Amino acid sequence: MLSISILILLVLGSPFVAGLTEQRRIELRDYTKEMFYHGFDNYMKYAFPKDELDPIQCVGRGRDKQNPQVDNIIINDVLGDFSLTLVDSLDTFVILGDKDRFENAIRLVIDNVSFDVDSKIQVFEVNIRVLGALLSAHLFATDKRFGFEIDWYKGELLEMAYDLGERLLPAFAHSKTGIPYPRVNLKYGLPKDEIEETCTAGAGSLILEFGTLSRLTNDTRFENAAKKALYALWNRRTELDLVGNVIDIQTGYWIHVASGVGAGIDSFFEYLLKAYALFGEEEYYEVFLQAYTAIKKYIRDSSGYLYQNINMHNRAIMSSWVDSLAAYFPGLQVLAGDVENAIKLHLLYYNIWKRYHALPERFNYYLRRAEIASYPLRPEFIESTYFLYRATRNPFYLSVGEMVLNDLELYRTDCGYASVENVLKGKLDPRMESFLLSETFKYLYLLFDIDNKFNTLDSNVVFTTEAHILTLSSTYLKFRPSILQNQDPSLAMPTCPRYIPQPGLLSSILDRPDADYARVLVGLNADITTSHARAYCESVSTSPLVVEVNFGERLPQNYKPMPPTKFDGGVIVDQLIGIKLELTMRSDRNGYDISKVDDYRIAPGEVLEIRDPSIKEHWLKQQSYSKITLRLYRSSLHDYINISGVTAAFSPPVYHYFPHPLYNIHYLPKAPYGCSPYLSSEKSILLNSYVIVKRGECTFYEKAIHAQDAGARAVIVVSDENHLFQPVIPSENSLEEVKITCVLVTKESGDIIERALERDRASEIKAILLPPETDMDSVVGSNFRLAIYDHVVNNVRLNLNGQ
Ligand SMILES: *[C@@H]1O[C@H](CO)[C@@H](O)[C@H](O)[C@H]1NC(C)=O
Ligand SMILES: *[C@@H]1O[C@H](CO)[C@@H](O)[C@H](O)[C@H]1NC(C)=O
Ligand SMILES: *[C@@H]1O[C@H](CO)[C@@H](O)[C@H](O)[C@H]1NC(C)=O
Repeated sequence: MLSISILILLVLGSPFVAGLTEQRRIELRDYTKEMFYHGFDNYMKYAFPKDELDPIQCVGRGRDKQNPQVDNIIINDVLGDFSLTLVDSLDTFVILGDKDRFENAIRLVIDNVSFDVDSKIQVFEVNIRVLGALLSAHLFATDKRFGFEIDWYKGELLEMAYDLGERLLPAFAHSKTGIPYPRVNLKYGLPKDEIEETCTAGAGSLILEFGTLSRLTNDTRFENAAKKALYALWNRRTELDLVGNVIDIQTGYWIHVASGVGAGIDSFFEYLLKAYALFGEEEYYEVFLQAYTAIKKYIRDSSGYLYQNINMHNRAIMSSWVDSLAAYFPGLQVLAGDVENAIKLHLLYYNIWKRYHALPERFNYYLRRAEIASYPLRPEFIESTYFLYRATRNPFYLSVGEMVLNDLELYRTDCGYASVENVLKGKLDPRMESFLLSETFKYLYLLFDIDNKFNTLDSNVVFTTEAHILTLSSTYLKFRPSILQNQDPSLAMPTCPRYIPQPGLLSSILDRPDADYARVLVGLNADITTSHARAYCESVSTSPLVVEVNFGERLPQNYKPMPPTKFDGGVIVDQLIGIKLELTMRSDRNGYDISKVDDYRIAPGEVLEIRDPSIKEHWLKQQSYSKITLRLYRSSLHDYINISGVTAAFSPPVYHYFPHPLYNIHYLPKAPYGCSPYLSSEKSILLNSYVIVKRGECTFYEKAIHAQDAGARAVIVVSDENHLFQPVIPSENSLEEVKITCVLVTKESGDIIERALERDRASEIKAILLPPETDMDSVVGSNFRLAIYDHVVNNVRLNLNGQ
């Protein structure tokens, strides 16, 4: 991909001939900055400390207790007397590289914002706009990596976030399902007779902020509540894996059964994928993949351009419009690795925008006209444009950015930018929503500022649905995202093939043969008709590798099995004997989850709780082991490294010899797992040496047998994780005696061995195995991680105290 775009540059001389010149790009970048300050400075001048600017009268607007007409539901949802626009803007200064203003803005927030206000607000809106903003600003003010540390800052924003988080918790307290009430009063908690219906996005887009808050404060209440809500929604999906639009939080019944990717559901999907990126926890990705597969199967139509609203039970089409909120979806598809589908859906919105110089809230694709004609300066379309540009570097997206910028200028007023009440008539509305500053301008700036630090970072930096940037250093992570660890990208992203742009000069997206189709769909130049490619990417099935495990094959006579019981977070078994477990390999092939216990399904996020004391012995055997040492000699007998490992229970221990036998160490890239018999050419290399293999693909036992047949002296298995345990024999009937030592080392140690082998490729690397020095090396693992078939099962916990 990179080499092709370089080629285009060389041929055409100037970087953005098909889109913009380099000079124009810089102009637009600087102009975007000016646009932001025009909005922000005027908000500060005319509106602060009120929540929002009225960009037509040039006055502030907020809750008006004297004037109940203003106190309508929309205003009620967002405004709360906490200087919303200022708070929401904080991390935009970071993107703009303006440290002074960042610091000033934080000072103002600390001095002037309080959440002890008698305001009924929407939990979702306040979470994404306010809590997210405080957390991201806190992270930047404290994290050395970004150059925005503030020396006087003492965590005040985190304290404010904690205070706010606690004020949002009453939304969860009285819900029977764990799905939160949509609104609370910040001062008085849950109002009497509060509405008990929520949209899916509202209840299912809290985990990024709540999880971050919990990690930073060590108070697990927030993450637990958000996670419970997320799964409470997901576990009420239909057989088709679809979620609805509105649900009753007490009964858990769906009230509005339309399923789609736009308003009411949108960020539910976004938070699943991004929770995986931020926290590295596989289960979120599993759910996202399942949900995304259903979207592609049922919600996307056969053209691949339209994402419809369908009945979640029977797939009947429920409307013929797309909404402007769903314009974020191509950006999410890019993050999911599905660039091809992202390009198509974005083209649809591109043509709608072109037609109206904005995105109407609803566009009817059957009637080919705007159905709800307002446009409150929303960011979703530019957000997707930005992510598509990052993924493709196709200059088309820069020209889309230029178009958006020019059109936004149509809505500039003397003191800000005004929402559009009607895109057909160009009538303006006296509101400037806070997301214009926190999202629309932020993405526009990032699009033009291609060298921005945030365009090159690819670790776990996520943009929330309000474009607040969250990133957690590894101390706050329970797991590292395996996508980042996995060397084989085809395994890591089992969704869609990588986007490969067409080489050649006609490389703009608009040169695609199917680009006209989107134009026709929205009624722009409707006389142009061309055929369209029906090439859309099918989701690769995540092929659950299902293994059935029977504990206790020989049941005692007259044995009465004790059936598993279901509880809120999964399934409990009191006796493992006679229980059938179904293990499903995770889609990145990194270990297993228990997916079924007898006939009970265990959903992502749920656990199997084992209360059977007889497992204790098995567990102790796995978790207690003696650490042996693999000593790797580099250039001389004085230059060595020690590596810890654990010998398998089925292989001989490492004995004390003197002198210790020294063997060469070998890794065969053609047989990385050592799961099949070695070829005779390989055998001659492995004879009397230690062979390194990767964990996976087959059992430790099989690896040992193959190494033994090749004449190796030991097999060193490099794990795919850093948790050691003792490999045991998979089952009792497959035995040829293992006479060579089988050692498990961590992934980290594997990296060290790999580096040593690479460095000294010319010479031979020798190693010895040393037995445990003392009994002190004996370790009992602390956290329970059951390994079945040599794979650590992830969603199991042991509770021997019962209850
Ligand atoms: C903000 O707080 C500072 C310090 O308490 C105070 O001097 C200033 O008047 C406040 N500004 C507004 C607009 O309330
Ligand atoms: C959080 O808890 C852990 C373990 O209990 C402790 O090591 C850490 O210092 C705590 N951090 C904070 C911010 O309280
Ligand atoms: C390496 O391990 C051996 C045996 O366990 C021990 O005697 C020696 O001190 C270790 N050396 C280093 C450098 O850690």
